[in-house]
Order: sequence, then C-alpha cells, then structure tokens
Amino acid sequence: MNLTGVTGFLDAALDRSVLLGYSKIGSGLRKRWWPADPPANALAGKRVVVTGATAGLGEAMAQSFAELGATVHLLGRNPDKVKRSAGVIRGRVPGAVVIDEVCDVGDLDAVRAWTDDLSGRIDALHGLVHNAGVMPKERDETPQGHELQLACHVLGPQVMTERLLPLLRNAGGASVVFVSSGGMYSAPLDADDLETARGEYDG
Ligand SMILES: NC(=O)c1ccc[n+]([C@@H]2O[C@H](COP(=O)([O-])OP(=O)(O)OC[C@H]3O[C@@H](n4cnc5c(N)ncnc54)[C@H](OP(=O)(O)O)[C@@H]3O)[C@@H](O)[C@H]2O)c1
Repeated sequence: MNLTGVTGFLDAALDRSVLLGYSKIGSGLRKRWWPADPPANALAGKRVVVTGATAGLGEAMAQSFAELGATVHLLGRNPDKVKRSAGVIRGRVPGAVVIDEVCDVGDLDAVRAWTDDLSGRIDALHGLVHNAGVMPKERDETPQGHELQLACHVLGPQVMTERLLPLLRNAGGASVVFVSSGGMYSAPLDADDLETARGEYDG
C-alpha cells in the first residue's frame, strides 16, 4: 500500500469512528498528511460559486477563495446579509472580486430563475460549493411542498448543478462540492420517507 493508500485507509477509519474523525483528534492527525496550502493567486482566473456564504463555513470559504485570487459569487437568500458578507470580504482581501448573488436554494423556482440569470452573465464556472444548510427544529415545507432540509441540502443543489452543467463543462475541469455532515452516520436515511412525511422529525 503506498502513502496515499495508507492515509486514505486512516482517513476512512477516522471518518467511520465519528468520535475520532469529527473531534480535534481527527484534524490533529489528518493535518500530518494534508497537502501544503496552495500559493497565493493559485485560483487566479477561476470563478467559484459558494452557497450559504453569508455566515460560518461558507463565508470563510468565500474569503479563502478570494485570497487565492478567484472571482467569488457569494450566494445567500437574504440580500442584506449577502451585501454585508461581500463587503466584509472586499474589506479584508485587497483586490477581491466578489459578486453578490441572491437565491433561496430550497426554493426550486428561485434556483431555476437564478441559474438562468447566471448562465446569461458568465461563460464558465470552475467551482460550485453546495454549502447552504439548515437544521430546523420542526418540519417545514418549501413553496413547492418539499420538506425544507431535503430541499435545501439535496433537491436545490441537484437542480442547480444540472442547470449549471454547461457552464461547468465550459470550464474544462470544474469541481462540484457538497458539504455534508458526520451526523449521517448516526441518523440512517429512510429511503421510503425522504420527505419525512411519516417519520419522526428530529432535525
Ligand atoms: N458547523 C458544523 O459543525 C457543521 C457540521 C456538519 C455539517 N455542517 C454543514 O456545513 C454547512 C455550513 O454549516 P455552518 O455551520 O457554516 O452553517 P451556518 O453558520 O448556519 O450558515 C449556513 C448558511 O447557509 C445559509 N442558508 C440557509 N438556508 C439557505 C437557503 N435556503 N438558501 C441559501 N442560503 C441558505 C444561511 O443563510 P441565512 O443566514 O440567511 O440563514 C447561512 O449563510 C451546512 O450545510 C451544514 O449542514 C456544519
């Protein structure tokens, strides 16, 4: 087994153990084989969309992409929050190119309208990070009648990716990333009740 095989095995073992993989132990061990950070401007000339980028991991990712020289499309559902986060990144990163994007990724009509709009504005997309996420305490539905968490984490990103495929293909080697959760190991998927219409809701 080469080094990549060994670290791949360790990575999977840490992941499956949940406690080791998702605590400081996991990041402490993994950083021994993580590659070095890319050089400044490693993403110059590239264009990336980050969803749910008005807070938390999404905002941090959007800033990191801007620091690496990418043009960042910062997407959120609240226009005021989008404006604030984009302004913060422009203030922190000299020369950052950050484009405000407003779309509720759980609303499939909004996703269709936004992807049509974006496709008319740009020729290629090099990266798409599906980060927007919610964990509502009670079951709720989107305008199309889908359970909110399913729509936000699965249906919206799926529709968005499909409709942006021409732009992603035009980039000649694009990446699409789905941000998920280690919680999936402790909450098995009920494939017969994806909309959580019958099952107990413990989001
Ligand atoms: N942090 C963790 O420990 C953890 C663990 C496991 C998985 N994750 C996953 O990692 C991702 C980011 O987590 P986080 O902790 O950074 O979350 P966060 O701080 O709550 O930020 C979530 C972001 O998503 C946006 N958002 C929510 N619903 C949206 C929608 N329908 N359309 C567009 N944007 C929407 C929020 O905007 P608003 O402010 O407008 O709501 C916010 O900007 C999520 O997918 C989450 O499930 C996080």
